Order: sequence, then structure tokens, then C-alpha cells
Amino acid sequence: MDVTGLRHIAIIMDGNGRWARARGLARARGHRAGVDSVRDIVTDCASAKLEWLTLFALSTENYRRRPRTEIRTLMALLRRFMIAERATFMKNGVRLRTVGRVDELPPKVVKEIRATEELTAGNDGTVLSLALNYGGRREILDAARRLAAAAQSGEVDLDDLSEDDLSRRLDDPLMPDVDLLVRTAGEMRISNFLLWQVSYGEIHVTPTCWPDFRRANLEAAVDDYRRRSRRFGGLLAGEER
Ligand code: IPE
Ligand code: IPE
Ligand code: MG
Repeated sequence: MDVTGLRHIAIIMDGNGRWARARGLARARGHRAGVDSVRDIVTDCASAKLEWLTLFALSTENYRRRPRTEIRTLMALLRRFMIAERATFMKNGVRLRTVGRVDELPPKVVKEIRATEELTAGNDGTVLSLALNYGGRREILDAARRLAAAAQSGEVDLDDLSEDDLSRRLDDPLMPDVDLLVRTAGEMRISNFLLWQVSYGEIHVTPTCWPDFRRANLEAAVDDYRRRSRRFGGLLAGEER
């Protein structure tokens, strides 16, 4: 997979439930199958030397609104994934980071996430950023709150604010802007994901449900991205007249 010129791919991993339903299986089976896609896609991105991959694994809304049994399944899968993937992350140079209110997840899960973050912190390959109990508006609100506190203490001057002053206060100040946003399972919406960072990101929606999503699907998304002309509000060479 050739990812030259692409720094950050973000994926809304949707459709686990529909994948399971189409096969007459329980939703939990869809989530379990989805973990295999995560493992494969992370490995592919690491070998392609992609700089940053963000995966939307759980929204604040999912955490609040899904049935407790489904949340319990997701938490168990997450914890197991954290433990099982450590060796592979180390072998492939993957660095795990997170965005979202991770500390509100069950302590047993948080412990394994933090341990994996610490273990992989020194790796210099692909950053795997997991969005967990994440909400885009909540992230921006928190950043605004931190900015207001900094203004109050005189650390920043409100008359002289830049976008950087806010983005440095987001959940992960190191996260680059999204180049390519992929959504599986066909919905044409952002669902409160990376609202700030996706500003000029190219959007690719595929009908494929997440448990069926593999390297060939990601390559198709990257090919689609390459056919886009990114203008960032300007014009392309030759468009001036
Ligand atoms: C995405 O699959 C995974 C999470 C949101 C945790 P869904 O569970 O949303 O699957 P559908 O949308 O019901 O098919
Ligand atoms: C978005 O999917 C969240 C994740 C993939 C983690 P949802 O399934 O929650 O999105 P909606 O509810 O269809 O917008
Ligand atoms: Mg869904």
C-alpha cells in the first residue's frame, strides 16, 4: 500500500451489528469479528509506514446509550486486544495513543490501555490512536475550557488567539489534521468524530461493513483519495483563468 503524501487516515468503524444480523448472529459476534479487521488494518498501515491512524472504536454516545451487555462485550474485547496486541505493536513499531475520556471506562480496561500506551511510547512507527468514549464536541468544549483558564491566568492573550492555541489543547495535541476519513457501512455522516481535525479531510464512504474491511478496501479508499483535488479553499494550478 502506497501512502505517500498521506499523513493521517481516520476510520469510523461502523456496521458490526449489521454484519452480524445479516448472518443471523448476535451483535457481539460482529464486534468480535471487527477486532480481526482492526488487527489486520493496523498491521497493514504499519508496514506501509503510515504516520497516523485514528480508529473510532467507541463514541461518548455509544457508551451512554448502548445496552449494558453490549458495552460489557466491547470492554472485554478492548481489554483483551490491549493485552494480546502488545507484542505485535512492539515488533511493528506501533505507538498506541488515545483520545476521548478513557479514564471513565472500567478501571480494569483503563489499566491495560495505559500499560500499552506506556510500553509503546518509545516506538517510532505508525501511531495508532484509538478514539474511546470520544465525542468531537466534547473535545472542543474541553479545549475551550482549558483555553479560558489559560486566558484567565494570563498565559494567553484573548486578543491574539490563533487556531494553534486551541488545537494544542485538544485531547491529543500531537494529532495531525485528517487527510482521509473513511466510514464503513454506508452512513453519510460524521457522528461527532474529530470535528476539528477533519476540517479539510477527504471523505470516503464504503458500503462494506467493518468486519469485512481489509487491506484491499483501504487501498481502494487511498486510490479514491488520490483522485481528489484538494484545494483548501484556493485554486489549483491552471484554474486561475
Ligand atoms: C460499530 O458498529 C461499532 C461501534 C459503534 C462500537 P455498530 O455496533 O454501530 O454496528 P451497526 O451500525 O449497528 O451495524
Ligand atoms: C459511530 O458509529 C461510532 C463508532 C464507529 C465508534 P455509530 O454506529 O455510533 O453511529 P450512528 O449512531 O449510526 O451515527
Ligand atoms: Mg453503527
